[in-house]
Amino acid sequence: MKHIVSGIQPTGSLNLGTYLGSIRNFVKLQDTFPEHHFMLFIADLHAITIPRDRLELRKTIRELAALYLACGLRQERLSLFIQSEIPAHSQVAHLLQCFTYIGELERMTQFKEKARRQETGVSAALFTYPVLMAGDILLYDAEYVPVGEDQTQHLELTRDIAERVNSRLGAVFTVPKLLTPKVGARIMSLTEPAQKMSKSDPNEKSRILLLDPEPVIRKRIMSAVTDSDTHVRFDKENKPGISNLLAILSALTDIPIETLEQQHAHSTYATFKQHVADTVVEALRPIQARYQALIQDPELDAFLDAGRDYAAKVAMRKVAKLNHKLGLGRKG
Ligand code: TYM
Repeated sequence: MKHIVSGIQPTGSLNLGTYLGSIRNFVKLQDTFPEHHFMLFIADLHAITIPRDRLELRKTIRELAALYLACGLRQERLSLFIQSEIPAHSQVAHLLQCFTYIGELERMTQFKEKARRQETGVSAALFTYPVLMAGDILLYDAEYVPVGEDQTQHLELTRDIAERVNSRLGAVFTVPKLLTPKVGARIMSLTEPAQKMSKSDPNEKSRILLLDPEPVIRKRIMSAVTDSDTHVRFDKENKPGISNLLAILSALTDIPIETLEQQHAHSTYATFKQHVADTVVEALRPIQARYQALIQDPELDAFLDAGRDYAAKVAMRKVAKLNHKLGLGRKG
């Protein structure tokens, strides 16, 4: 079975950036790749590389599981699971660390950024996090990994590790390919459009959460930072705020940015923002309704159990193969 694999960390509520960069893309890819099996997971082992409140984490894990499905993923050819429920993820991370160089991890820009922001001690796990991520992907012989732009470097490292293992031990892993969406791969903050929209930004006004009530969504978009020009035009360098709103609109409507520019050639910024706000509200309304039903549905747990069982079987086989190739244990 050919696999497409991706994950999201359960840290804070899901925002529009994560939705457009990942989940919305997964939904579309289910049509683009009708032969593949999708393995999507909640990366809770990644979340604890920074200290978390346990009750909050539990709540977010379940919320994220319901949101994955509420966003429109179809349940056939899909295994949705929680990373920590598959011990093979932790196991393979150690094995792959033996194939990863410290210098490679030191070059990871996400580590550098996160370490800089952190006030207390930076954990060793935050440093080795990209190896855990490589394991998440390689365990399942993922052919494609759909992610936003900020994960490109981690995916490059995953490919390097896979090639290194294969050249030392013989064919063990499929070398995965990156799949980023054409529009929406990097949604920016609404208050500082030179920075990525992020769940860890202390300024709540910088983002829209998928479960935000309508008035909050409208307010955040209407007050999004733009520029002193008056033309609705895509120009990331000089007009990052307007360009970001155009990208959001284009990703949600599947209308090319050039067409949107033409439609708004004579619009004021206020009219344009109104259009963006209406579109976001309309897109999130059905997701929010489905979420409310799913979060209370015991079927959600049954689906997560089935996802766990499928993933565990595939992952255990891969770890056994790797152990064997490495000469670990007594058998073979
Ligand atoms: P995470 O949880 O930070 O983000 C989840 C996904 O959302 C994308 N994303 C964005 N896309 C566009 N604009 C944004 N502002 C934005 N913010 C987030 C991310 O690129 C990602 O695709 N390490 C990963 C989780 C992970 C993973 C994996 C992903 C763990 N193991 C294996 C793929 C395969 C992470 O922290 O993503």
